[in-house]
Amino acid sequence: MNGTHAMLSHFPVGFWALATLMILVGVFLSGRLAELSRAALLPVLILSLIGGLAAIIVGFLVWPMEANLASPLTRNHILMSFWSLGIYTMITVLVWKAGDAAFDGNRRWALVILALTGGLMFSAAGTLGGHLAGAATAFSDVLGLMGWEVYTTFYSPLWVSAVMVIIGIALGALGIMNRRKKG
Ligand code: HEM
Repeated sequence: MNGTHAMLSHFPVGFWALATLMILVGVFLSGRLAELSRAALLPVLILSLIGGLAAIIVGFLVWPMEANLASPLTRNHILMSFWSLGIYTMITVLVWKAGDAAFDGNRRWALVILALTGGLMFSAAGTLGGHLAGAATAFSDVLGLMGWEVYTTFYSPLWVSAVMVIIGIALGALGIMNRRKKG
């Protein structure tokens, strides 16, 4: 089962990397490649979510919870895998609901910001998994340069969470106001 998690985890990592690239190509390039990227994004995103869920479920089946929670490295790995799943779920809902219009006008910036944030999250999840399996990479040092020492449980101060909630409410209000203006 240990090997099953290692094998399955390649699916979300691969599909999330591909989806991120397709979003960037779809937003910043024009022509056939950009069109194809936009058209094929939704199936890639759906496959990525299935892969992510499978890796997470098998992760919880393989290792006992007490063992998982005892190690800051594993806690961080689980946290990052959940953040990745959450962010790519949001992107999937956006693309599902809006279709091609998700790439129109200012809307596309939401996709770009989410894709880059998701990219950072799944890279952290994968690199911490490698770290756990005894194969640390230079990316752990990059996280260190950003102020996160991966052997300590990820911590964000309360004020950061408060700012995030305020930004979320402000963006929601902006969306509702824009919709009213148009309708
Ligand atoms: C999207 C979700 C996840 C991804 C992409 C992911 C990715 C990875 C990767 C790439 C590895 C290294 C595998 C290897 O080369 O041997 C790994 C290892 C590991 N993962 Fe995950 N993982 C995810 C979710 C989870 C969850 C939810 C748990 C625990 C509940 C978990 C626990 C572990 C542990 C304990 C290892 C170390 C395995 C070993 O010592 O060989 N992972 N993970």
